[in-house]
Amino acid sequence: MATEVRTCDSIEDLRNALNVISHYFGMENAEEDAERFAQWIELERMHVAWDGDSAVGGAGAFTYRMSIPGGSIPAGGVTVVGVLPTHRRRGVLTSLMRAQLEDCRARGDVAAYLWASEATIYGRFGYGLASRIGAISLPRERTRFGVPFEARGTVRLLDADEAAVAFPPLYEQLLSQRAGLFERSKAWWETRRLNDDPTRRRGGGPQQRALLELDGEPAGYALYRVAQDWESGSSKGTVTIQEVVTPTPEATRELWRWLLDFDWTSQFVADLLPIDHPLFLLLAEPRRMQFKLNDGVWVRLIDIEAALAARSYAGDGAIVLEVEDAFLPENAGRYRVGADGAARTEAAADVRLDVTGLGSVYLGGFGFGDLVRASRAEELTDGAAERADALFRTGLAPWCAEIF
Ligand SMILES: CC(C)(COP(=O)(O)OP(=O)(O)OC[C@H]1O[C@@H](n2cnc3c(N)ncnc32)[C@H](O)[C@@H]1OP(=O)(O)O)[C@@H](O)C(=O)NCCC(=O)NCCS
Repeated sequence: MATEVRTCDSIEDLRNALNVISHYFGMENAEEDAERFAQWIELERMHVAWDGDSAVGGAGAFTYRMSIPGGSIPAGGVTVVGVLPTHRRRGVLTSLMRAQLEDCRARGDVAAYLWASEATIYGRFGYGLASRIGAISLPRERTRFGVPFEARGTVRLLDADEAAVAFPPLYEQLLSQRAGLFERSKAWWETRRLNDDPTRRRGGGPQQRALLELDGEPAGYALYRVAQDWESGSSKGTVTIQEVVTPTPEATRELWRWLLDFDWTSQFVADLLPIDHPLFLLLAEPRRMQFKLNDGVWVRLIDIEAALAARSYAGDGAIVLEVEDAFLPENAGRYRVGADGAARTEAAADVRLDVTGLGSVYLGGFGFGDLVRASRAEELTDGAAERADALFRTGLAPWCAEIF
């Protein structure tokens, strides 16, 4: 029997849809799990593939605003994608992706973005790798800063209710600085980011919430967990740093110093740092972080004209891009991009690329030169990649601080 893709009508539908991806996590959702998830996603944004009465595939999209260079755009945050092993490789995912992207477009989403658990899956649907992240593992005795300073801030540990009030304004400052982040609703803060479900601590202790204050004002925050362990009477514990948000250089220096001075531990780990993290220049021995680079979020432009028009550009030149899009062919065409704006054009193209390549350069995580060197774009006029890079240049690397 052919499968049919529909959106969820009820919590029971949502539970069935979530159980598809949960199959791969080796777990099953109770009704309250689906109710919890419904706090973050509209039922009609969860697509389900049905084989008769059985849900065999699912794909959801959170309603996000994603920060981009110079502003933000409505974007679908794609999540919980899965097809049961009984129905794989029959085109079910393809049907779900098509239904989801059409729905995103109808809602006015300019882009969709996601964390890919397998990099092989999403390129065919137009997603391009748009950011990179770094994981660190820093021994306690190697945290000295290259330029010592006199700390003057104070740090307080907050409970979850206090954090839900104090942290969002700091995160919002970060949103205006970095591309790739998404706005968090009150429910997201309270029931997701600051939620500390004991079954999801992965061997760590409770989530700790530290607020840095400078001159009596909130200046940064950190979320971390302590996993204590002992060997021959000495601590060999780990502090896992989940998220540190410090919108100013002074707060960055103060809060990281405070964290890295943590007693009774032997190492600090963090998984999702931006690749241009100031720790490289703060630490006396940055190599000791063992900074491990990995792929971050993947971006799919759904309305290319609107996406290009929403971004800011550097310099005063212009460039014409010829974009191919096999999955959403209505996007294909030529676009003129300059500091004065972006729009479709009939003018001759300077660079030819696929929509995945445009997703890669959109947030500033990669350049046109990178695409050309990787055979992902073609220069049609001399020096076009360099001129395009000058236009698309951003100050900071894109960063999504949280897996969704
Ligand atoms: C990955 C998954 C969603 C694919 O679903 P599916 O219904 O089998 O996919 P489709 O049949 O629509 O496949 C579409 C194409 O993608 C390819 N493909 C699918 N899964 C792939 C994978 N994991 N790696 C490489 N290629 C893959 C298929 O071969 C097919 O290629 P073709 O068009 O050239 O024939 C499914 O296998 C699954 O749920 N896996 C485990 C969970 C998971 O990885 N979820 C994604 C979370 S980010």
